[in-house]
Amino acid sequence: MPQSQRIAVLKETARGETRVSASPETVKKLVALGAEVAVEAGAGAVASFSDEEFRNAGAQVGPASEVLSGADIVFGVQGPDPAALSGVKPGAWVVAIMDPFGQRERVDAYAAAGLEALSMEFMPRITRAQSMDVLSSQSNLSGYKAVIAAADTYGRAFPMMMTAAGTVSAAKVFVMGVGVAGLQAIATARRLGAQVSATDVRAATREQILSLGAKPIFVENVAGIEGEGAGGYATEMSEEYQKAQAELVSSHIAKQDIVITTALIPGRAAPRLISDVQIATMKPGSVIFDLAVAQGGNVEGSVPDQVVEKHGVKIMGYSNTPAHLAADASALYARNLFNFLSAFWDKEQGGPVLDEEIGDAIRLTQGGKVVNPRLLA
Ligand code: NAI
Repeated sequence: MPQSQRIAVLKETARGETRVSASPETVKKLVALGAEVAVEAGAGAVASFSDEEFRNAGAQVGPASEVLSGADIVFGVQGPDPAALSGVKPGAWVVAIMDPFGQRERVDAYAAAGLEALSMEFMPRITRAQSMDVLSSQSNLSGYKAVIAAADTYGRAFPMMMTAAGTVSAAKVFVMGVGVAGLQAIATARRLGAQVSATDVRAATREQILSLGAKPIFVENVAGIEGEGAGGYATEMSEEYQKAQAELVSSHIAKQDIVITTALIPGRAAPRLISDVQIATMKPGSVIFDLAVAQGGNVEGSVPDQVVEKHGVKIMGYSNTPAHLAADASALYARNLFNFLSAFWDKEQGGPVLDEEIGDAIRLTQGGKVVNPRLLA
């Protein structure tokens, strides 16, 4: 019988991080796989999972030093401080959302400590890895929350209402960037009764926008219109395209009440989609939610975790949107991690063994070195 693998679940330490990387449900499933799970006391408190629930699910609960002692695998939401991981086995896996481009020093420190850092946001966007895709699970909730937060800040209602005192007209919502978050933002705004339009650089999203009952707003007749690069991600657009897009957005945005921006390009700063001049054309009382604010922002003047008022328009965005839905975001993230480990669990080895396609994509460090091609390029 191989010795069972010990998984340590840490309490997050980053400011504003409310999530946790395991739930009582996934602890139970990990224990059923044959793993030993240790959860740091209080790790799930903000996400509404108590120590007692973790214990009942089969976890040991204790202080970090105890939890980490002899761990083969460390789970985090954000990459834990490498200096705080004393006591883990040599070569232990650290599985988290590593932000490898933003936190390069931390990646180097994992290598120096002989740890194997696995970056969940580098999971390939392939069919068999969909259930392990943390970007999708978290972005989906973010798209929802952005609309709810914008609706709360907006001083008017979303649905059209005919009342004895008069008619309230429907809010006009424009979603820029129709990936996972954008699609959920469209669906949420529609459910709240808004009139929704949306745009993206990837032509393939037109059909998706229509199928959600929203109106596609697209740049036509410009070279390089596909906008789709490797892995279905957006590419940086030509100057000609950017100019045409700015003109189109300017004329459309002036008529909108709410704008939700979600545009990201992997490994780069978020593209600037809305300028201060364009904000000035919007009606006072309008709201812009910049979901990319933590990656540099799609909107000129947006500041993480603040509502900034410019030209009577409220511009907002959270540095960590999924953290505003701690319980659901944790439950889905925890399932992503469980799905990942269980897909690779090797009964004979008594632990996970990665294949090349996924292992090479997500592994940042191994054998004391940074090994990921995206970081070595
Ligand atoms: P993302 O978070 O990287 O970007 C959000 C959206 O912004 C994307 O739709 C992108 O095209 C758009 N965008 C970028 N620059 C823009 C600009 N200048 N103007 C307007 N829009 C702009 O995207 P996400 O949500 O991670 O999705 C990326 C791709 O991966 C999509 O094709 C999605 O369908 C695909 N996907 C595949 C999965 C799988 O097969 N496992 C799971 C999830 C997503």
